[in-house]
Amino acid sequence: MPSPADCRIEIVQTFDSAARASRKVANQIAELIQSQRSAGRTCVLGLATGSTPISLYAELVRMHKKEGLSFGNVTTFNLDEYLPMPPAQRQSYVRFMHEHLFDHVDIAPTNIHIPDGTLPVDQVEEFCRKYECLIEAEGGIDLQLLGIGRTGHIGFNEPDSSQDSRTRLVTLDPITRGDASTSFDGIENVPVQAITMGVGTIMDAKKIIMMAFGNSKAPIVARTLEGPVDSAIPATFLKLHPNVEFVLDSAAASKL
Ligand code: GLP
Repeated sequence: MPSPADCRIEIVQTFDSAARASRKVANQIAELIQSQRSAGRTCVLGLATGSTPISLYAELVRMHKKEGLSFGNVTTFNLDEYLPMPPAQRQSYVRFMHEHLFDHVDIAPTNIHIPDGTLPVDQVEEFCRKYECLIEAEGGIDLQLLGIGRTGHIGFNEPDSSQDSRTRLVTLDPITRGDASTSFDGIENVPVQAITMGVGTIMDAKKIIMMAFGNSKAPIVARTLEGPVDSAIPATFLKLHPNVEFVLDSAAASKL
């Protein structure tokens, strides 16, 4: 097991505000989209939901509208979705992605992939297998964006997810459901299950950027970056990736 010293300090970048951090990541994404286009290639993005990437998506939309950034060569795979979850429901990640990004840029609808929260449980395994195949058929994910849950989850890979886990049906941790309870008007309304890309699926991405903003993330960010690699905190697996960046604001970095 790698020791805490294995967390290379250069992979952690701290900004004085979430807005500055988001602009930096948006610029990286724009550069990647453009360099892939120049090379005649598709840019495959792995996308996250939650409050953390909202200002990043707003910046990408601004770049599309004001600076001509085109998503014509972009294909996306979202990390996760609640199950059950109709796409039109307020808490749906399909709805989230359309409201914050897809409806405002020139991405082809057929290039958008999000786990299907409408499936009956007995069809989920087959769906997950196909999701993995689709990612592979696109040549893999060029850049995977991540937030982090207070349990240390990435996507919905809760504690004790294995390093080689793939896209699958999972049961949500009570802390995660508690954190979602406000947006669902009560924990009893938060789904118990979700479909998520696995840790292994995420680790296969060519580059990973994990973002964490705000005081509430400071304890889990410190445990992730300073503790050992341990499946009890799935985000610690990211430290084994050869091309990962942790992008923090000063509040999330305050316990480092
Ligand atoms: C949810 C998502 C995660 C996200 C996490 C943190 O659990 N499934 O992908 O990283 O929330 O959300 P937030 O950015 O709102 O703190």
